[in-house]
Amino acid sequence: MTSPKRYLVTAALPYANGPVHIGHLAGCYLPADIYVRYLKAIGKEVLFICGSDEHGVPITIKAKKEGITPQQLVDKYHKIMGDAFKEFGIDFTYYGRTSSKVHHDTAQEFFKNLYDKNVFKEETTNQYYDESAKQFLADRYITGTCPRCGNTNAYGDQCEKCGTTLSPTDLINPKSTLSGEAPVLKETKNWFLPMGEIQQTQQFQNYITRFDSWKSNIKGQCNSWLTEGLQSRAMTRDLDWGVPVPLKDAEGKVLYVWFDAPIGYISATKEYLQNQAPSTEHRAPFSDWWQNEDTALIHFIGKDNIVFHAIIFPMMLMTHGNYILPTNVPANEFLNLEGDKISTSRNWAVWLHEYLVDFPNRQDELRYVLTSIAPETKDSEFTWKDFQTRVNSELVSIFGNFVNRVLVLSDKFYEGKIPDGTIELKDEKLKSAQQNAFDEVAKNLHQMTENLNAIKLRDALSNFINVARAGNKYLADTEPWKLIKTNTEQVKGIMFDALQICAKLAIAAEVFLPHTSKKLKIMLNKNELNWNELFNSTILHSQHQLGKAEILYKQVEDEEIQKQLDRLESIKKVNSQQPIVNTIHEVKADITYEDFDKLDLRVGKILEAEKVPKADKLLKLIVDLGFEKRTILSGIAEYYKPEELIGKSVTVIANLAPRKIRGIESQGMLLMAGNDFGKLYSIGPDKEIEAGSVVK
Ligand code: 2FM
Ligand code: ZN
Repeated sequence: MTSPKRYLVTAALPYANGPVHIGHLAGCYLPADIYVRYLKAIGKEVLFICGSDEHGVPITIKAKKEGITPQQLVDKYHKIMGDAFKEFGIDFTYYGRTSSKVHHDTAQEFFKNLYDKNVFKEETTNQYYDESAKQFLADRYITGTCPRCGNTNAYGDQCEKCGTTLSPTDLINPKSTLSGEAPVLKETKNWFLPMGEIQQTQQFQNYITRFDSWKSNIKGQCNSWLTEGLQSRAMTRDLDWGVPVPLKDAEGKVLYVWFDAPIGYISATKEYLQNQAPSTEHRAPFSDWWQNEDTALIHFIGKDNIVFHAIIFPMMLMTHGNYILPTNVPANEFLNLEGDKISTSRNWAVWLHEYLVDFPNRQDELRYVLTSIAPETKDSEFTWKDFQTRVNSELVSIFGNFVNRVLVLSDKFYEGKIPDGTIELKDEKLKSAQQNAFDEVAKNLHQMTENLNAIKLRDALSNFINVARAGNKYLADTEPWKLIKTNTEQVKGIMFDALQICAKLAIAAEVFLPHTSKKLKIMLNKNELNWNELFNSTILHSQHQLGKAEILYKQVEDEEIQKQLDRLESIKKVNSQQPIVNTIHEVKADITYEDFDKLDLRVGKILEAEKVPKADKLLKLIVDLGFEKRTILSGIAEYYKPEELIGKSVTVIANLAPRKIRGIESQGMLLMAGNDFGKLYSIGPDKEIEAGSVVK
């Protein structure tokens, strides 16, 4: 696309299951907001769309935990989240929600459209079902042992210990989190998006050429999935919370949350244009936003959302037809906190609503720090000490100090009126200080706009602060507070320049630090300042009356930081007192001898062992059971080198139904003794006995 006519910018719809923390802000909402503010500043037509993601298991699980209904939960957090975004100046054009009627209708229409075109593959599969809760179990409702690393608390969709993506049937000893009981497999019909087939289409192949200009983290991830080949994925779920599947034979089924959530961008746009857009404002119609190739569609997301935005949603859009595809998907990596992953469940986070209690009216300080450490290319780290250093030595000492000196001196020398702007500096030293300041300011403003265009916001912010730095240096080099005693005319020239730099800072601050920009504009008594004045040599004209000088930023004190560190320390303590789940494993319910007798346990001799490619934890074993040789996959690669295992006698469950793991059929299971502290030993006969012997 040469130059887009308009920009449709989206930020990932956050699950309405908890308050907003700094990880959310840094990962997606703040970068999107800065970019949108910039686009608006340069006069582009922009819609900035977001909203609450109110479906899916994250909602039902949290509602259960809080003892309220899913609807009550999403009502509560939709408001809390929306308020937090507003407080921090995240200026969405529209913040919708996926429980709205427009969204339900739009998502159902979308599904029906694909269904009518025969896009989906209808498949009947065996899914886990909790007989006592009488419900099919979504992936997150099932836990069990990870076949790769042996983690006994892996989820049905992922093992959080080794990061493997799983499907529930991969889990060893699956357990329903609803009843604690072992689920049973039950047949159910669902509708799958045949991603492997769509991958082969010319349209998709054309689309992925866009990746070339995207950030390397996204390009790399997408290309590696595409090389592996995409699998079909179910777009419906057996759940009672979500958008009902709009088909006759789909009772008790809802759309997969990752099918309906991105459609939220479409429905929120629709809702806004239909009901909310100010009637006086000129707006392009819906079709221009979503169906016109002149629109740039840009999805800001965190890295855990890449596959959905760069592959699955575009596949949905292209099979539906009649929609534009993403122009760019700027995904950020993760922000960590004081050396550890941010975690809602462990309360390891800086919550925005709590920050505001301890640092009232200091939103821009957090915006500044989070932008300067934004995880744009790799994970980054927030620490309170660093927060203090950046605020004190950059915002207070450079930006705040410069502006304050200029305004206080202007008040003192000229009663707050802009001095004559036609004075030429004469002295060589003054002239060179002036030239230096002009060059630095212009260079950094140019680089800043280039970086904003390229969505390199960390660098853009550093250019911004360099402008203030150049202003400060100008004052330090020329010392107008001393010069005023000997050469009042020259001081006028210097102060005139310094005031223009303040105005440039007020204009540029609008994109990074909106609260500050507002304050500064009031101090300059100039509410109307436009981006296109940024490179003008005169923005504030002689005789313009300035407003009152105020302090832009307060110093962050040691005690304020200590309070935050103490809070985190106590959270750490609480977390460490929590028993390690499963350290003392409860004895399972009694079984009868007949139950035990169903198990066919045999001595097996390991003949071959090798690592499974691209699976760090998995070994592929060939085990002799006397009467036959079996291929068995075992998640023991962390504990045994393949060569140590050759010739070892082990106990094998010989009648466990075969299961495919990573495309290889595993025909049995090895018995192992393990604890939660990283030990895992194989169990075998303590004396030599032939392979195939019965263990009883
Ligand atoms: O990861 C999440 O928080 C999801 N709720 C993001 C959804 S983004 C989009 F698809 F709506
Ligand atoms: Zn694992």
